[in-house]
Amino acid sequence: MHGYGVSAGPSTVIRIENVAKRYGNITAVNGVSFSVEEGEIFGLLGPNGAGKTTLIRMLTTLTRPTAGELFVAGYSVRKHQVEVKKRIGVVPQQNNLERELTGRQNLLLHALLHKVDRAERNQRINELLEYVGLQDRADDRVQNYSGGMARRLLIARALVHRPSILFLDEPTIGLDPQTRRKIWDLIQIMNRDGVTVLLTTHYIEEAESLCHRVGIIDYGRLIALGTPSELKERLGNYCVEFLNERGTERHFFATRSEAQEYAQRKDCDTVVRRTNLEDVFVELTGREVRESDAS
Ligand SMILES: Nc1ncnc2c1ncn2[C@@H]1O[C@H](COP(=O)(O)OP(=O)(O)OP(=O)(O)O)[C@@H](O)[C@H]1O
Ligand SMILES: [Mg+2]
Repeated sequence: MHGYGVSAGPSTVIRIENVAKRYGNITAVNGVSFSVEEGEIFGLLGPNGAGKTTLIRMLTTLTRPTAGELFVAGYSVRKHQVEVKKRIGVVPQQNNLERELTGRQNLLLHALLHKVDRAERNQRINELLEYVGLQDRADDRVQNYSGGMARRLLIARALVHRPSILFLDEPTIGLDPQTRRKIWDLIQIMNRDGVTVLLTTHYIEEAESLCHRVGIIDYGRLIALGTPSELKERLGNYCVEFLNERGTERHFFATRSEAQEYAQRKDCDTVVRRTNLEDVFVELTGREVRESDAS
């Protein structure tokens, strides 16, 4: 048996227990615990440098934690790296495709590395090229791909060996809104086909519209965890926003009528709107998610 520890449910597929990672003086991840259930799309939302990639690298066997334990698909990542690797797909933040090779050749290379059956290989690759809409460009070199095409190929590559858990690090970073939506569709289709997804993002809309549950991470710590609606409801589902000499001020209310009542009493211009995850982040940290965004 590869026990998860006491508080995991029967369908927990990722479990992180008190994990920390230090690089010299820098604490990239600082005592994080949470778990992901089978069938979820789970999002780690946080600003640049929050520790998102470091967490993904630990979960996917690429780096070891300084403290704590990680379990993936029922296996301790520390003890059973090979078993874990067989069951996961990884879409890294940085494109690490072979640029000189074609899309198809990149997938074939991955199939060989993962020892996908010769009999199955070509069919699987064709199926995936179609799945991500690259069948027409499959035999072009990757160096001639657009950013969106490269991202779709990275997703296809991650799926070649039929993983049950997929890790996507910033799957839509740098993509235009239309391409971003296509990637969201693809993630949802994969999820419906039975793949559990853990992704990282610093895009509020991505966390809000794509993820069943969200963990907000800041300075290496998990500062909130829940469904997008739970997180917003904790703050109050309606927001009154106005400008004053200190900048933008926001107040939160459970109902629209309470918010409107408050707004009417103010003698300045106000906006009454629904609360969003950006508000949740700002209230918890005093900063905006994209304040330090360099991308
Ligand atoms: N190999 C490394 N050596 C030293 N410091 C590192 C290393 N990898 C990450 N860090 C540091 O750990 C912290 C967290 O980095 P990480 O890449 O995990 O953040 P992130 O949330 O993925 O950020 P981004 O949104 O910019 O991708 C940063 O301060 C970073 O400089
Ligand atoms: Mg990162």
